[in-house]
Amino acid sequence: MRVLGIETSCDETGVAVYDGDRGLLSHALYSQVRLHAEYGGVVPELASRDHVRKLLPMIRSALAQAATTPQQIDGIAYTAGPGLVGALLVGACLARALAFAWRVPAVGIHHMEGHLLAPMLETPAPAFPFVALLVSGGHTLLVEVDGVGRYTTLGESLDDAAGEAFDKVAKLLELPYPGGPALAKLAESGIAGRFEFPRPMTDRPGLDFSFSGLKTAVLTARKNAPQDDQTRADLARAFEDAVVDTLVIKCERALQQTGERRLVVAGGVGANRRLRARLKERVEQLGGEVFYPRLEFCTDNGAMIAYAGYRRLCAGVPAAPVSVSARWPLDSLMAA
Ligand code: KG4
Ligand code: ZN
Repeated sequence: MRVLGIETSCDETGVAVYDGDRGLLSHALYSQVRLHAEYGGVVPELASRDHVRKLLPMIRSALAQAATTPQQIDGIAYTAGPGLVGALLVGACLARALAFAWRVPAVGIHHMEGHLLAPMLETPAPAFPFVALLVSGGHTLLVEVDGVGRYTTLGESLDDAAGEAFDKVAKLLELPYPGGPALAKLAESGIAGRFEFPRPMTDRPGLDFSFSGLKTAVLTARKNAPQDDQTRADLARAFEDAVVDTLVIKCERALQQTGERRLVVAGGVGANRRLRARLKERVEQLGGEVFYPRLEFCTDNGAMIAYAGYRRLCAGVPAAPVSVSARWPLDSLMAA
């Protein structure tokens, strides 16, 4: 079975072709970062219009790169939520129209399921069951995963998502959008331990997160500290260490609570090198194993949607009208 995948939930247009026997045949990604940079964040209407401009030419080139004709496509997968409704509708409508024209099924994919299954595109792929840490711009989730669509949320952020906290702290350190990667880069030249921020909600049981207090702690420290570049780097380092420590502590707790030994890390913040190194070290100390997607598949991409679509189409997909959801609990998915 060969599946065309389409991702348009936010500010990245992603397209990919996945084949059940041969794996990923092609993928294309266009980031709207420059379009939104002057506004310091994503402007939803501009995002939708840009997806309209880019999507069809990208589908043509992804098919050509995969040496695939429309007649060889057996199904189309698109992100149906959560995300920006206008942006989602661009992908959903085009996917449904192509599916109608090509007489193949279309399937709406949960964006976080896409992230969660992205490590399956790597070798070795994690076997079920596992615990997944999903850390993106909109979500921070710890999920127990027993199979495709068999998800139990163990913990989530009560306020800002981890990526959102990176972006907000980056802004108050006057770094350009998108803040996460810029902050991580600045932190590289920071001195560890000069500033010390709390590890929120680690002093009590449970697997929920809260990152908004950290942002305030950085703001207060910045106001009271010298305004030189080294201080900015030291603040960035202390913030990154606090987030990474918090995520490591909660992952360790989730593995202990569930008795699982495999941890999957996905979503944009999963591209953070310090987080990847620290989690690998700690989980291996505990006798477990960590699985990541390659760096480019941590952030939004079409490959994860094509793969999730392949798994869902193999399991059979009930006919459904075109619909997208800005909010969509992961636990409500049907098992595949
Ligand atoms: O998964 P993603 O591409 O989009 C959403 O579904 O939200 O995640 C984007 C988030 C942004 O908040 C971005 O700042 C963050 O991931 N991010 C990072 C890094 N790369 C991306 N945060 C920390 N370190 C990074 N290297
Ligand atoms: Zn995402």
